[in-house]
Amino acid sequence: MSINRDEKILVVDDEQSIRELIVTSLEDNGYLCSTAADGQEALRKLEEEDYQLVISDIKMPGMDGIELLKRILSEYRDVAVIMVTSLVNINYSIEAMKLGAYDYILKPFDLGSLLISVQRAFERRMLIIKNREYQYNLELKVEEQTREIRKVFLNAIEALAQALEAKDAYTSGHSHRVTEISVIIAKELELDSDYVDKIRLSGLLHDIGKIGIRGDVLNKPGRLTESEYKHVSTHPSIGVKILQFLIKENEVLEIIKHHHEFYNGKGLPDGLRMEKIPIGSRILAVADTFDAMTSTRPYRNALSPETAYKELERCKGTQFDPDVVDAFFRCREKVERIISGKEIPLGIAINQ
Ligand SMILES: [Fe+2]
Repeated sequence: MSINRDEKILVVDDEQSIRELIVTSLEDNGYLCSTAADGQEALRKLEEEDYQLVISDIKMPGMDGIELLKRILSEYRDVAVIMVTSLVNINYSIEAMKLGAYDYILKPFDLGSLLISVQRAFERRMLIIKNREYQYNLELKVEEQTREIRKVFLNAIEALAQALEAKDAYTSGHSHRVTEISVIIAKELELDSDYVDKIRLSGLLHDIGKIGIRGDVLNKPGRLTESEYKHVSTHPSIGVKILQFLIKENEVLEIIKHHHEFYNGKGLPDGLRMEKIPIGSRILAVADTFDAMTSTRPYRNALSPETAYKELERCKGTQFDPDVVDAFFRCREKVERIISGKEIPLGIAINQ
């Protein structure tokens, strides 16, 4: 029998002679033991000191062994419990095993089987603890890898954002402001948080398709011709073509694809109407237009927020979803704080 000074056993029995018999036998085999005469005393001792195993009688005055077992299971999950009972009370032992006792010993017992039972209980307890640790470490590893994968994903998005910025200086800060304004509107409309996250991602990437638009058209310091306008209008679809390799959430791709649809069906690329346009796209449309109007462009200076508000009001119900415009106006103060800086730092923050 191995001697392990870390393994301490609490022997609980109302009969002193049985306590002594068990303790003597265990101590002869190298175990450290303490005793308790009832359930209450056992709980007190468990509170004061660490025990790895409790051997408890079932039939005791006051708190019986089953009750004590329940308390130990709920408060000391790493303490193993072996029940001791007489043959007439065998049913209690079965109940105890169902509850989570490691084993039971029938009185009168021979000391050999007591020792085997104790050793098995320690071995099983150790296995359970090691298994739990392994599980915990595994979970940590999975979490770490998930974080790593997410970092790579965010870096890929940042790389795309930088690529667009290198081509179209106007985009600097625009996507971030559109994202922030869209999130404010989405929250005002009480959309669920998963969808708000999708809007956030869509906002950051909504104009990525401009990578595929000719630079002379993107940065033209004057009004676009009809064919140039048509060319620029392909950017939502180009964006989806690029992003489909990176983003598997169809809802995000759909939001991006339709962010230039009009509420009255006269927008692009599919002429969708009203609720057929994803709500995320209807929100992005308002945020995007508002930020574009209040930004300086190659062909005009920034409009004042008041002028931009009038324009949104004018296009409510034709270009824009009226509910989204109303929500936007209710958040006017927050929105103004965002556009007043016009200097949102670069850096992707998807789960703020
Ligand atoms: Fe756009």
